[in-house]
Amino acid sequence: MSDIKNYIEENKDRFLDELFDLIRIPSISADPTHIDDMHKTAEAIKKSLIDAGVDKAEICETPTIPVVYAEKIIDEKLPTVLIYGHYDVQPVDPISLWDTDPFEPVIKKTELHPEGAIFGRGSSDDKGQVYMHVKAFEYMVKSNTLPCNVKFMIEGEEEIGSTSLGWYVERNKEKLKNDIILISDTGMISNSQPSITTSLRGIAHVEVEVTGPSRDLHSGLFGGAVANPITVLNKILSKLHNDNNEVTIPGFYNGIKKYTEAERAEIAKAPFVEEDYKKALNIDAVDGEAGYSTIERATIRPTLDVNGIWGGYTGEGSKTIIPSKANAKISMRLVPGQDPAEMTEALSKYLNSLAPDSVKIEVKGNRGGYAYVTPTNNNGYLAASKALKETFGIDSIPTGSGGSIPIVALFEKELGSKSILIGLGLESDAIHSPNEHFGVFNYLKGIETIPYFYKYYVELEK
Ligand code: BES
Ligand code: MN
Ligand code: MN
Repeated sequence: MSDIKNYIEENKDRFLDELFDLIRIPSISADPTHIDDMHKTAEAIKKSLIDAGVDKAEICETPTIPVVYAEKIIDEKLPTVLIYGHYDVQPVDPISLWDTDPFEPVIKKTELHPEGAIFGRGSSDDKGQVYMHVKAFEYMVKSNTLPCNVKFMIEGEEEIGSTSLGWYVERNKEKLKNDIILISDTGMISNSQPSITTSLRGIAHVEVEVTGPSRDLHSGLFGGAVANPITVLNKILSKLHNDNNEVTIPGFYNGIKKYTEAERAEIAKAPFVEEDYKKALNIDAVDGEAGYSTIERATIRPTLDVNGIWGGYTGEGSKTIIPSKANAKISMRLVPGQDPAEMTEALSKYLNSLAPDSVKIEVKGNRGGYAYVTPTNNNGYLAASKALKETFGIDSIPTGSGGSIPIVALFEKELGSKSILIGLGLESDAIHSPNEHFGVFNYLKGIETIPYFYKYYVELEK
């Protein structure tokens, strides 16, 4: 295993070139016009797994976007690690804010990445992190050090809520059977402080449409006498939080875990400098639920955000109308104890109750996902922390994350397996934002760390 470093040194240009080719395919799952790119990316992932040494790789069609499945079974009696990741990426707009083409990756140096970072959509979320696993696997096969069975399941619609993944998992329980799931689709504290993500928030989202008159009206002839849907929507949205920034949906906080002072003290130990946080985001003050720290607000507390709002005339010059419609997209981040379907229903009811008779309101709920907590005392977690210790030279720390990977809770429910989240990304990677990037250091460190995870996991399972 000690020659993994040499292997990386000898092959790193190729590792970068191959990842660049993957990033060049614009696999935007949210945009149906990219469906051919989704298939192309699935093919590219499949080919990379075959080249790396799997026994079997297949593209599994689903009602929507295909899943790539591959495996190498060396001995049925040995443990099986399932690698999950996603090959789809977020849309790129606003494109004008990108310094370089999102699908023409380049390496540029930054303050946090003096050795360079790969700029491109999907570099960190999640193509770069998926590819770390492919290359780590390639090394283990080539060096004859693969200590157990491996399965890969790389999906293409994580960014739109894993639409067909539940469908796929339900139908392939036997095939996906495993002892532990390993996922790199999160981040760590910094390049000098490795961490393992121990919790993810759940998610529920809705779209709301407020309709007033059946057509846009002259605001001089009708203004003042007819409800303006944009004004009404704004009033409704402004009632979703109170002055303490608590969410006002009835029952929102029912049944969620209360943290003890000791647990909160543990959370407060994580290295976090509020001044740096504000500086990185270019904000003068943080904001959130009264009585909680910034880390708590962003990880263990449930939240509600308006993600987008539109309506009326937004073109050049002025157009004096009362618009017929106003719309918004709203998402909630959930914690253990909250059910996504119940929360969607509660929000929908509440929005309806806030709408005056002068408008019609329609709320559509989308699929959501449950929150997830990983235990820190199982062999998967222990193996991950030993692996990070080996390659970073210092102890990693457990951290909660505010993001969501809805499939993780579903894996536990359907397959009964725990997921270990070793993400090599950084919060500064600008995932989902313009100029997304992934440190070359992070990419190569991931490739170096993963084989140790396998090694220690299999040793611990013996
Ligand atoms: N990889 C992210 C989630 C993530 C990032 C978790 C960093 C923790 C740290 C994932 O691709 C993502 O963006 N998930 C969506 C889920 C949604 C579309 C259902 C999210 O969190 O918004
Ligand atoms: Mn992701
Ligand atoms: Mn994402």
